[in-house]
Amino acid sequence: MTATAPGAAPRRTLKIAMNGVTGRMGYRQHLVRSILALREQGGLPLGDAAGTVLWPEPILIGRNEAKLRAIAERHGLTEYTTDLDAVLADPSVEIYFDALLTNVREPSLKKAIAAGKHIYTEKPTATTFEGALELARLAKEAGVKNGAVQDKIFLPGLLKLKRLIDGGFFGRILSVRGEFGYWVFEGDWQEAQRPSWNYRAEDGGGIVVDMFPHWEYVLHNLFGRVTSVQALAATHVPQRWDEEGKPYPATADDSAYGIFELEGGAVAQINSSWSVRVNRDELVEFQVDGTEGSAVAGLRNCRVQHRSATPKPVWNPDLPATYAFREQWQEVPDNGEFDNGFKAQWELFLKHVVLDTPYDWDLLAGARGVQLAELGLKSHAEGRRFAVPEVSL
Ligand SMILES: NC(=O)c1ccc[n+]([C@@H]2O[C@H](COP(=O)([O-])OP(=O)(O)OC[C@H]3O[C@@H](n4cnc5c(N)ncnc54)[C@H](O)[C@@H]3O)[C@@H](O)[C@H]2O)c1
Repeated sequence: MTATAPGAAPRRTLKIAMNGVTGRMGYRQHLVRSILALREQGGLPLGDAAGTVLWPEPILIGRNEAKLRAIAERHGLTEYTTDLDAVLADPSVEIYFDALLTNVREPSLKKAIAAGKHIYTEKPTATTFEGALELARLAKEAGVKNGAVQDKIFLPGLLKLKRLIDGGFFGRILSVRGEFGYWVFEGDWQEAQRPSWNYRAEDGGGIVVDMFPHWEYVLHNLFGRVTSVQALAATHVPQRWDEEGKPYPATADDSAYGIFELEGGAVAQINSSWSVRVNRDELVEFQVDGTEGSAVAGLRNCRVQHRSATPKPVWNPDLPATYAFREQWQEVPDNGEFDNGFKAQWELFLKHVVLDTPYDWDLLAGARGVQLAELGLKSHAEGRRFAVPEVSL
């Protein structure tokens, strides 16, 4: 416990080594919108009688000292380094966080586990299912707490969907249709809005590897474990331009069309694409149809139609549409305040580390996501549907 000014809430300082903070996710979502946001709100209340707050103390790690210094100065931070080994050797550092490029993640995570640090990592946790399972096993053997980012289930739209499921709104859930994607510019006449490695298989890119881990935990947490996968992937845009304006061949898939069977019998079908233009209300939307009602959930919003209010259209292409179908749905109210999804998950993980509260979204859960991506790519390559075996250590 750190001493604080008289009258102020006692602070439990927690040092977090944050690797990859110069990257898009590491900087924006994890450092700024999660860890620094927690500090701006005065720390994370731990709920004890003394009013203790948990105070995250980030140590920025990366390869480029000047970039790290600039970030530290911008946010009034003092600790940054290019020496990962030195940070891992420091016993006062309790958590190692990793938002590196996926294909350089495993060695750093292994080192951190060996150094006895608790682990929190972006997804995919590894490049192969075998590697992901190995990480989960190593963390278990070392007795360190561990978590993998599963931010989408903490989004307001999906929390509302969960509320509907828990309240029995749907009756028996029949199917889930997911539509994810937007146009990612090629980079020639307009700058691409995602890093170029995403489009190179040799650098760990590809939409199956990127998005199937998300779909695994979304489906698993909301509807039930994925029991089979059938996928078709495509590289619709074969050439792109990188951060330096140089053309390169896109060697990774930029679109994936997946069908997933779920425990309990529902079928999910999810399209993922970086080469599709948005004609939806949100960048991702899931339609859930059940015997008693249906819902369409996005990042923030969720609309429902109960069976009692379901119209009875009759197919007749000779006549103009008689219903304004989209107007016949009802908005699900917020009924509360929603925080940033990344921050919400960080808070749960930090409490898990300090208070030993339950936490399900660990490296084993992360391995399930890598497994689904791997089987999805195999399904595409072989033109077959694959059973997804249950994962355990
Ligand atoms: N949870 C999500 O919704 C979500 C969204 C996007 C990306 N991600 C994941 O986050 C990770 C980072 O993605 P990003 O979009 O921020 O990428 P990015 O390219 O913006 O950042 C990558 C980071 O890794 C570092 N890096 C690159 N090559 C390295 C090397 N050889 N050695 C050490 N460090 C290296 C870079 O300096 C940078 O800090 C990926 O694993 C990606 O799958 C998650």
